[in-house]
Amino acid sequence: VRRDLHGRVAFITGASAGIGAACGRALAARGVRVVLAARRLDRLHRLSAEIEHRGGRALPLQVDVSHEDQVESAIRTSLETFGRLDIVVANAGIGFIGAVHETPGAVARRLVDVNLLGSFYTARTAVPILKSQGTGHLLFVSSIVGHRGIQYTGAYCATKAGQIGLAEALRAELAGSGVDVSVVLPVSTRTEFLDAIARDFGRRVRGVGPQQTAERVAEAIVATIRRPRFEVYPYVPARALPLLNALSPEICGWVLRKFGRKRDD
Ligand SMILES: NC(=O)c1ccc[n+]([C@@H]2O[C@H](COP(=O)([O-])OP(=O)(O)OC[C@H]3O[C@@H](n4cnc5c(N)ncnc54)[C@H](OP(=O)(O)O)[C@@H]3O)[C@@H](O)[C@H]2O)c1
Repeated sequence: VRRDLHGRVAFITGASAGIGAACGRALAARGVRVVLAARRLDRLHRLSAEIEHRGGRALPLQVDVSHEDQVESAIRTSLETFGRLDIVVANAGIGFIGAVHETPGAVARRLVDVNLLGSFYTARTAVPILKSQGTGHLLFVSSIVGHRGIQYTGAYCATKAGQIGLAEALRAELAGSGVDVSVVLPVSTRTEFLDAIARDFGRRVRGVGPQQTAERVAEAIVATIRRPRFEVYPYVPARALPLLNALSPEICGWVLRKFGRKRDD
């Protein structure tokens, strides 16, 4: 059976752009009250206004997910505002392009802080709430590169693989609790992801290979919440990649060299 989403409450990190913003719009369109969390509050206010203008309900909250206390207080505020919490999307994330030996330790640490620990703080704060309700859905936006690393994104791949490990552990811990866990594994997606790398780290890159829209990923997330499953491949053919990697890492490596990211500079 498909679940009705109307009246539920979703907490979404990284909601000021890309996949998180698309997710906020898509869930609000189904009657979900959405908490929009990210650092750029002006953008969150604009998105909230847009959602409320369409008859939805949205709460913008300024959060840097690399700070555990900020994540905790944001989730507490959403619970106080809406009285419940049903859907949690740990989506906030940043990238970096560079060979491992060219990636400064401080950059790798920042990626771990935001992508991996940000997801961890979000999960560890939300789980007791969802468990006590006996219902809820925790989703992690990882990446296909979390299943099979690719060249020039070592630090990023490590954080995305870490999110998958975290999701697998939680899935086992929450079995039978009424709380679902999912991990979303998008391929290259047209968002501000690469612009953020240029802005924060001065590296201009372009994605090559298959691409999808943020809206497509958001629709896959909505479908998963309505009918829960663990692994979500918004770009369906990508499902074959972990299988191919298990069968032949060499052939898989060839495919990935052909479709991996390239640096422009
Ligand atoms: N684009 C792709 O090709 C692709 C492919 C696979 C997976 N993904 C994953 O999808 C997720 C979303 O990325 P996107 O493509 O939508 O990129 P995006 O357009 O750059 O959006 C990233 C979002 O994360 C937020 N964010 C960054 N650092 C944050 C922090 N410290 N605290 C709170 N929020 C933070 C940004 O908001 P503020 O700057 O306002 O904080 C923004 O809302 C990421 O986890 C990414 O790894 C992306």
